[in-house]
Amino acid sequence: MCYVKSSRPDRMRINVLVSLEGCRFAAAYFERGIFMDRQYTKIDIVRSILDEELKKIEDEELKRCAYVHLYGVGQAAAFLAMKRGFGREFAELAEIAGMLHDYSKYVLNDEAYHAEKSAKYARAILEKGKVFEVEDIKIVCDAIYNHSRKQEIGNAFCEVLKDADEMQHFFRNPTENYFFEKERIQKLMKELGV
Ligand SMILES: [Fe+2]
Repeated sequence: MCYVKSSRPDRMRINVLVSLEGCRFAAAYFERGIFMDRQYTKIDIVRSILDEELKKIEDEELKRCAYVHLYGVGQAAAFLAMKRGFGREFAELAEIAGMLHDYSKYVLNDEAYHAEKSAKYARAILEKGKVFEVEDIKIVCDAIYNHSRKQEIGNAFCEVLKDADEMQHFFRNPTENYFFEKERIQKLMKELGV
């Protein structure tokens, strides 16, 4: 059975849409002979849209880096969001912000002004998903837009994304000094007690 729990009653319509999308994913798993009794969420919807674009990247090395970095930052962002006291729904938004934050850099292989451009594409993807509230789209896209300004301290949600971005780069290779010596990583290690 596919279902989505929500603490917000006004999300019933959204949950029905998510449930329908979730059933579509579940059906795909059944077709492949895999049974998973799990909950399908908005992240699955964004992932399906993002994966379709990632599959189109022709350069295999760029594609590998895209999967590792975008999903790595997504998971780091969800972790940091919860560590900092955000609820699970914001952790979900943080993960989505991480998944989309460098969209232009990887999917379009376009690094110039990639934060601003990625925010624009993220908005289009989230609107296409049809399950996000306007305020949630704004939170995610504002964080993506500002994530390259690592020298500045932004709002708490944006800081989660910036730290998750650096965290994924650092843990990709913990013996590399470039990221280890960054002030943001040093502060993060202290916060995490590692
Ligand atoms: Fe990044």
